[in-house]
Amino acid sequence: MRRVQVAIFGAGPAGLLLAHLLRQAGVETVVLEAKSREYLETSPHRIRAGVLEWGTKEMAKQAGVGERMLREGLEHGGIYLAFDGGLLHLDFRALAGRSIWVYGQQYLVRDIIQRHLEAGGEILFEHEVVGLENLGEAPVLVFRTPQGKEERLAAEFAVGADGSHSLARRYIPGARIHQKTYPFAWLGILAETRPAAEELIYASSERGFALYSMRSPSLSRNYLQVSPEERLEAWPEERIWEELNRRLEGVAEVRPGPILEKSLTPMRSLVVEPMQYGRFFLVGDAAHVVPPTGAKGMNLAFCDVAVLHRALLAYYRNGDTGPLTRYSQEALRHVWQAELFSYWMTTLLHTLPDPFEEELRRAKLRHLGESLPLQRFLAENYVGLHTTGRYVEG
Ligand code: PHB
Repeated sequence: MRRVQVAIFGAGPAGLLLAHLLRQAGVETVVLEAKSREYLETSPHRIRAGVLEWGTKEMAKQAGVGERMLREGLEHGGIYLAFDGGLLHLDFRALAGRSIWVYGQQYLVRDIIQRHLEAGGEILFEHEVVGLENLGEAPVLVFRTPQGKEERLAAEFAVGADGSHSLARRYIPGARIHQKTYPFAWLGILAETRPAAEELIYASSERGFALYSMRSPSLSRNYLQVSPEERLEAWPEERIWEELNRRLEGVAEVRPGPILEKSLTPMRSLVVEPMQYGRFFLVGDAAHVVPPTGAKGMNLAFCDVAVLHRALLAYYRNGDTGPLTRYSQEALRHVWQAELFSYWMTTLLHTLPDPFEEELRRAKLRHLGESLPLQRFLAENYVGLHTTGRYVEG
């Protein structure tokens, strides 16, 4: 059986960044990924959020995978909140001393894959992990090759980075799953048209929440709050544009353009505790899911990687197992911080079915409009002072 120091399964942002950082430190890794490289890089179903905290941008830069992100991404100094017919600008530089970066997650995945392979890293695409053995002492990954053969890979450590529908999380014995679902979903589009504003607009209207984001000055990424039972067929293009404009009435306008992609995203929060067992660790969505309102998903994955990478280096450089044993405890601090913020943003901005809670929500929004400390709370969390900001020198 082949042996490797660290076996990672899942070639999303978390698994790839970890593999690349370990390789730079001379630790040998293999990444196993069920899907093909082409699927990861080009499938429209892989369109994910596009907001990078300043710390995430820094991590990508320091890992040597940020060249294209810095060239093609957009730096934003804040966001807008639209409510009660007005527009509130939150200036992140003034409120939290940092800016954010807009660059699509799947673009960054493409960039890391390219850099990692160029540097001699090993990614086995179309190799699906189907089981894990002996995680307490000497992990073995059981996987299926593209030819359908079952094979095994032995590792000193195994890392589950297989995303929100994770198989890995089932292999933490006695894990607690903290979960919450929300009574709405997001209908998202990617369209060839100029964005509604030069920065993101989070709009809370009586007709529901809408988000006006972008990928470039000519590519818009917009979302509408819809019912979780909604079907895409119920939303022809005219209806989408009309609704996007009605939820932004009196504030800004979106011009219809060719829609390249439509998708529905359910909203949920989930945390697996603990995030480790024996010589096995979970990173990214495999360990935690956040609703997209706070734009925290990939940023949180990078935080896990920062902690686990440091812990693995302490072991490989000094034989120190302490940081590895404390991985979950340390990671859960930033995880719950991001869960808190994502929940707060989600319940602040979406129309709620309970009339009492809906009135509280509107009071919260008005309060935010008048309170500098609350605006600072939002800004600090959005730019990630307490998440990636804890792991990056700024
Ligand atoms: C996106 O651009 O896709 C996006 C931006 C901000 C969010 C969620 C998604 O909160």
